[in-house]
Amino acid sequence: MLSPADSLAPEWLVVPEDVNDLANGVWPASATRDGDGALVLGGVSVQALARTYGTPVLVLDEDEVRTRARAFRTAFDAATAAHGTTAQVYYAGKAFLSATVARWVIDEGLRVDVCTGGELEVALAAGVAPASIGFHGNNKSTAELERAVQVGVGSIIVDSDIEIERLAAITARTGAVQRVFVRVISGVHAETHDFLATAHEDQKFGFALPDAETAVARIRELSGLDFAGLHCHIGSQIFGVAGFRESASRVLELHERLLDGGPVPQMNLGGGFGIAYTRIDDPTPIDELAAEIVASVADGCEARGIAIPALSFEPGRAIVGTAGVTLYEVGTTKDVTIESGAVRRYVSVDGGMSDNARTALYGAQFSARLASRVGSDAPQLSRVVGKHCESGDIVVDHEYLPADLVPGDLLAVPATGAYCVSLSSNYNHVPRPPVVAVRGGESRVIVRGETIADLLSRDAGIDVANDSDGSRPSTPEGAR
Ligand SMILES: Cc1ncc(COP(=O)(O)O)c(C=O)c1O
Repeated sequence: MLSPADSLAPEWLVVPEDVNDLANGVWPASATRDGDGALVLGGVSVQALARTYGTPVLVLDEDEVRTRARAFRTAFDAATAAHGTTAQVYYAGKAFLSATVARWVIDEGLRVDVCTGGELEVALAAGVAPASIGFHGNNKSTAELERAVQVGVGSIIVDSDIEIERLAAITARTGAVQRVFVRVISGVHAETHDFLATAHEDQKFGFALPDAETAVARIRELSGLDFAGLHCHIGSQIFGVAGFRESASRVLELHERLLDGGPVPQMNLGGGFGIAYTRIDDPTPIDELAAEIVASVADGCEARGIAIPALSFEPGRAIVGTAGVTLYEVGTTKDVTIESGAVRRYVSVDGGMSDNARTALYGAQFSARLASRVGSDAPQLSRVVGKHCESGDIVVDHEYLPADLVPGDLLAVPATGAYCVSLSSNYNHVPRPPVVAVRGGESRVIVRGETIADLLSRDAGIDVANDSDGSRPSTPEGAR
């Protein structure tokens, strides 16, 4: 029988047998609990992490990132080798980009995809070879394109006729020859568990398939541009292979027609590989996905009697998402009686939508666990909320947490490695937390947390140097 509180739970959320367990696949492989029940990540206890760096803090498990990067590399190498071609795997930096993470993925044999001048500079500063960088974006400025061509990025994924002309002018001026892909919209919308194929798209990215033909013809007229192939990205957090297959088959139709006008050596099928945010998410293992996607391209090529192109992929979330765990401190709890008589517990933490906008932005689901100890009481349906002045400031919409959770406890939200730091803000003048890497029992800051001083320094109306009575809080605790 459902208790009144459980009637507020969504259907997919079951009452856990153990409210302290760490669901398989949702946490980094290193996650465990120590003898006192505290969560341990990469061999470092969350108590130690919170003491050293304060909360909130995003903890990134280096081995998890490296293992996943390697798994992608190996899976696509094997899958393409089986069909006589090759694969390049680009880490989609938009998921989370810092110099350290860029170096990890490069170390594991990946390339890096960037989509703004800022991301490009981080990759370059990290020492990523320009030839290993792919540059995306629907509105790259002339300055961004000039910089990309000047440093010699491996490829630019062009998104509009105007961009082609910008590149034509730059390469004519500099004498450079720039390799480009043409981004197309295949009309396949991949959703988490399903996909929807439409003929027309009403969105800002890429060229509709018929328009792409004209774009490629124009590129081929330009001596400064070297056409590499088509690019297509169908969405994010995709679990199955059906959407990739359908999209690849549509892109292949155009690919074949383009062969009449010259070589089309490559095809980039984008990213979008899903991860588990809660225990019900069950992403297909990457080696299976890789084998099926590559086989579908190979079959399509064989049916058309054309050579299989070299393939590229751009996973972001699937490399870094599961490696991240955000630690918060619980500040208040409040039991709110809903009209039905059911009670929902609100657990307020010391961060929120400024460090994790995904719940507010996309209605994303996350899970959470009491991290500083094991809870001893029964599961209590809870909603984890932040400290921002916004009722939509929800971090975890629905989760069972121990009923004896109290202020001062540490709460861990797993699978926050992707699109949390990238989308973070200073809403309500809350400083952005540090990112701390853990590995083999050691921890280190890889992105410094912001200080109040950082925030004040951007306000031209504040004399930052003048803190006459020394009362201004500067650096929160730890290494921020
Ligand atoms: C062109 C392109 N490639 C790759 C990605 C990475 O997607 P994901 O992080 O879901 O793998 C995105 C995400 O929006 C994208 O737009």
